Amino acid sequence: MDQNALKLAAATLALDYVEDNTIIGVGTGSTVNFFIAELIRTKARIKAAVSSSVASSKLLRDGGFEVMELNDAGALSIYVDGADEINRELAMIKGAGAALTREKIVAAASEKFICIADATKYVAVLGRFPLSIEVIPMGRSYVSRELVKLGGHPEWRMRDGKAVVTDNGNWILDVRGMTITNPIELETTINQIAGVVENGLFARRGADVLLLASNAGVERISQK
Ligand code: A5P
Repeated sequence: MDQNALKLAAATLALDYVEDNTIIGVGTGSTVNFFIAELIRTKARIKAAVSSSVASSKLLRDGGFEVMELNDAGALSIYVDGADEINRELAMIKGAGAALTREKIVAAASEKFICIADATKYVAVLGRFPLSIEVIPMGRSYVSRELVKLGGHPEWRMRDGKAVVTDNGNWILDVRGMTITNPIELETTINQIAGVVENGLFARRGADVLLLASNAGVERISQK
């Protein structure tokens, strides 16, 4: 199976966790796009969704779903999202889509985090994939110097010669060269640097369930 077929397989299984008349959290990225397509295809009878990005909100609205502000929704039953990397403890690196801050807020407000991923995302140690960090623009250079002190190699995320701007109006640093053996500690340390809005380590609040798709099928892995 190609990677898209695996993403679809994981996304399809996530429908098992969607209950009628509930408000669900929906993440961002190519795997979640399959999940949104499945919500639409199966005409899921959810009450509404809270989304972690402008892009996902548009897909949901175009599909006929109500999209609510998190402040109006209260606690959410589930949050479904992908990951750039995920380990056996279900700690993740997220943020390739630059939506990490809203993702972390919606994840925190959800009772259960369902991560959907293909097998290429499952790693023994986090850190081969660059760690995304959302920064206040005026703090970019200072934050970069502090990240170098932590052993990282930060790079300012650009597209077509322009800084990538998040949905919150901030910039992204992608940090390479980090072997992340203690993700909870590093998540906390990076968030103490002045100018950091949020970092893409999801370890303090990792996933509760991982739906991991490989050619052998979709495995359900639960938080121990
Ligand atoms: C968005 O900011 C990210 O956290 C995505 O959830 C993550 O990059 C996974 O994306 P894909 O499903 O496209 O691989």
